[in-house]
Amino acid sequence: MTDFSTAILNWYNHEKTSMPWRDEPDPYRIWLSEVMLQQTQIQTVIPYYLKWIKTLPTVKDTAESSEDVVLKLWEGLGYYARARNFRLACQMITENFDGIVPSDPIQFKQLKGVGDYITAAVQSIAFGHPLPVIDGNVRRITSRLLSLPHPPDQHNEEIMDFLTLHIGDTQPGDFNQGMMDLARDVCKPKVPLCTQCPVSCYCSAFSDQTIHRYPVKKEKKIRPHFRVAVGVIWKDSHILVSKRKSNGLLGGLWEFPGGKIQNGESSPECIQRETLEELGIHVTVGDFIKTIQHAYTHFSISMDSYHCRFQTGEPKSIGCSDWMWIKRDELVSLAFPKANHKIFDKIPEVSPFEN
Ligand code: ADE
Repeated sequence: MTDFSTAILNWYNHEKTSMPWRDEPDPYRIWLSEVMLQQTQIQTVIPYYLKWIKTLPTVKDTAESSEDVVLKLWEGLGYYARARNFRLACQMITENFDGIVPSDPIQFKQLKGVGDYITAAVQSIAFGHPLPVIDGNVRRITSRLLSLPHPPDQHNEEIMDFLTLHIGDTQPGDFNQGMMDLARDVCKPKVPLCTQCPVSCYCSAFSDQTIHRYPVKKEKKIRPHFRVAVGVIWKDSHILVSKRKSNGLLGGLWEFPGGKIQNGESSPECIQRETLEELGIHVTVGDFIKTIQHAYTHFSISMDSYHCRFQTGEPKSIGCSDWMWIKRDELVSLAFPKANHKIFDKIPEVSPFEN
């Protein structure tokens, strides 16, 4: 154990933030929490985690659940592949490991959706393997500790070497969680609280008074913007919803049919083209509902929505993986992307075309 790791462990012992999965011996729960935390903040994760554990308390429960159930539990957390993969990984564990989460990092990493980060987090916290966790927060604190001259993802090897040197094999899970907590709560991105930091005496940027220079920033990518149009398609008192293909962005979620508006196309024309291409049906476009602006992580959209009336054709899953006619009150039982949710309150109980 190095002086640095002792300082991290002492600090973690006194300052650790309470979380429902902390001090939890069940590897399944630790794993679920890490999958949720991978791209999402703790306060957002907690209610999702509690609901999931209540609904699907074991590997077997998740393995036996449907994709729709896990996506509904995940609805709003984003990066839905995490939920789909977690379910598939649980199925692999029931089939190959008798429902017991493997304590061997090599076997664990072969599970669907499990990469370096999840392996290190789960195997160190649940089983005591000395594998360093590297997430965005840990990259930031290490880039300050070492004054790394380039954006942190260009220094993976140095960061890994530094953490490997200090993780030790007595409490690697606590070391990892201490680094993550300290980076998040003290070594903050904009206003680091260096006077409260237990390792400022080991920090190169602190001693040079150059904290504000680190981590060195990457050039910003421009986030693309898409214009989208969707239809709330009515047939009597039913609404047509389609399911996105399982792979890809927002995969497996239900949505109102529609798609990207092409150059020179109006929103109603787009809805008519998309519903024909993706479902093989003809609709007429009625009243405008609203335009929604929504920013996803990697792109933003503006989405025009219209009430539409079903005309002809039998829906087919051409550009989607499934479709169904549902009643208005069934909308909330399915998992939809966030942008779709923003029009729920404008959808009446009865069809605007009926009277
Ligand atoms: N972020 C992701 N996983 C975490 C953990 N186990 N502790 C603290 N922060 C985290």
